[in-house]
Amino acid sequence: MQLTMSDEDFTRLSRFIKAQYGINLTQKRQLVTSRLTSLMGEQGHTRCTPFIDRLLEKRDPANMELVLNRLTTNYTFFMREQDHFNFFEQTVLPELVQRHQRDRVLSIWSAGCSSGEEPYNISMCIKDFLGPEAGRWDTRVLATDISQRVLATAQRGVYELPDTIPEHWKKRYFVKDKASGQYAVAPVIKENVIFQTFNLMDPIRFRLKFDVIFCRNVMIYFDQPTKNALIGRFYDATVPGGYLMIGHSESLDKNSPYRTVAPSTFQKR
Ligand SMILES: C[S@@+](CC[C@H](N)C(=O)[O-])C[C@H]1O[C@@H](n2cnc3c(N)ncnc32)[C@H](O)[C@@H]1O
Repeated sequence: MQLTMSDEDFTRLSRFIKAQYGINLTQKRQLVTSRLTSLMGEQGHTRCTPFIDRLLEKRDPANMELVLNRLTTNYTFFMREQDHFNFFEQTVLPELVQRHQRDRVLSIWSAGCSSGEEPYNISMCIKDFLGPEAGRWDTRVLATDISQRVLATAQRGVYELPDTIPEHWKKRYFVKDKASGQYAVAPVIKENVIFQTFNLMDPIRFRLKFDVIFCRNVMIYFDQPTKNALIGRFYDATVPGGYLMIGHSESLDKNSPYRTVAPSTFQKR
């Protein structure tokens, strides 16, 4: 049975989620009500107010995670928005290899990586591009998400593969489990991705500045000021000439400091 959420409870909950995670729920009352009240029902609550009181007071990470999992979508797949990977292989990687001839370190971030398909996909592009030279480079991809649940799936690295994955990639970068028909990401790719929990609302304090940031289909949840602030932090965390890729259905504010170089692909000046 679905519980009823009062205006006041909805307002304080959506304010809290926005402040903590940047996620804007004001237009999503129906979704919030149905998804969260079903969670509360599963936990044996008969009223929303005590659940929300407790969530806001205690901020228990396990409960916050359950709430977050109901409110966000983690939908992702290999080869998603393939144009980005083409641009990455044909334009970005040749440039980076030139630029990093000396240190041989590439710094790439998949921000909002969900269950890992995106950073593994990036890693496969890099290995393909560098070929036998790959072992002489540090190409580790940083992959972050707010959700522990998706990061656990990412770390496991076992998937049903779509037909869009090239056959030679299936052979080279996956190990098929005959019993289940699923594919495990091969160690050479797995070891090349570092997964970490990170909330994109937090200051960006990673050791290196990034050559490329992929933040695709994440900011769709954020309102414009939250998005602009994050874009500013991405810009500061990127090397001059570095790139930002966002989802194909997303856009940057016209005052953004980046220049557009391809659809939903931007470069720091
Ligand atoms: C739809 S998935 C996108 C996955 C992948 N980038 C893609 O394009 O296929 C969005 C991800 O953003 C994550 N996310 C949402 N808000 C976040 C935040 N404040 N900090 C970090 N990750 C967040 C969600 O947990 C989810 O896994």
